[in-house]
Amino acid sequence: MTLVGRRVRVRVPATSANLGPGFDTLGLALNVHDELDVEAIESGVEITVEGVGAGEVPTDETHLVARAALHAFDRLGVPAPGLRIHARNAIPHSRGMGSSGAAIVSGVLAAVGLVGDDVDVDDATVLRLATELEGHPDNVAPAIFGGLTIAWVDDDGPHHTELAVHRGVSLLVAVPQERMSTSLARSLQPADVPHADAVFNLSRAALLIAALTQTPGLLFAATEDRLHQRYRASAMPSTSRLVEALRAAGHAAVVSGAGPSVLVLSSDPEQRLAAAEIVAAQEDSWESHLLAVDIKGGTVEGNPR
Ligand code: HSE
Repeated sequence: MTLVGRRVRVRVPATSANLGPGFDTLGLALNVHDELDVEAIESGVEITVEGVGAGEVPTDETHLVARAALHAFDRLGVPAPGLRIHARNAIPHSRGMGSSGAAIVSGVLAAVGLVGDDVDVDDATVLRLATELEGHPDNVAPAIFGGLTIAWVDDDGPHHTELAVHRGVSLLVAVPQERMSTSLARSLQPADVPHADAVFNLSRAALLIAALTQTPGLLFAATEDRLHQRYRASAMPSTSRLVEALRAAGHAAVVSGAGPSVLVLSSDPEQRLAAAEIVAAQEDSWESHLLAVDIKGGTVEGNPR
């Protein structure tokens, strides 16, 4: 089989993981996207980037999209072609909005799309290939499937289920200038946590599913966390201050993913605008994005799977 000459267009959403109590488990797809045109060529990797990351990210086979595509070809047992990739990126990097998960999902979907009907690849395989590179499934699951996802891992690998978010929930993501490294954030986590904190998060995570799907009025109580945010606060003090200021005013604010962005889950659009005013009043410079849930997840066109 030669893939040379095949082309696909891949579009993958930003994501917000954890959502407060759902550490490494819950994720939400957001309507900000990276879009890539990928062509199979004879050899080599050629990458051009527009938008976020232009002039910063590598443009050879070490680029995360290319690495993910090459990983997918390898795991699918398909000889990898060369790749020509043009990326139009809108997802901010290192801000807790799932840019690395989106890049990994883009690469995997591009490889799957280029292979087309020559190899049968199901959704579970896409999730497994992406999770192998990302390390945890909470960003890649919503990036692939859209909506609100619950992801878990057992001896067979990662799994997920998708849920529709209640139409009364509106989203605000506040994005700071500074960046945060996920590996640094993860290094601040203790190996063990008190049993009482585990129970605390269990109750809030369970409640959060009800709040996001049925009863948005419960969002404030449902977004409390004792498993990750407090341990990471020293590494992102302005994030911590903003979450505190928003929660003190009754907004369901959490750290988005590993930070430093802040996600506010509002139960009505006016509440969201009030949250945006608090963000604008901060001394540090934050950009507020009024976002919606992406329900499509990652898409591939051209050589559809
Ligand atoms: N659950 C992950 C974390 C999301 O908080 O470390 C970021 O990749």
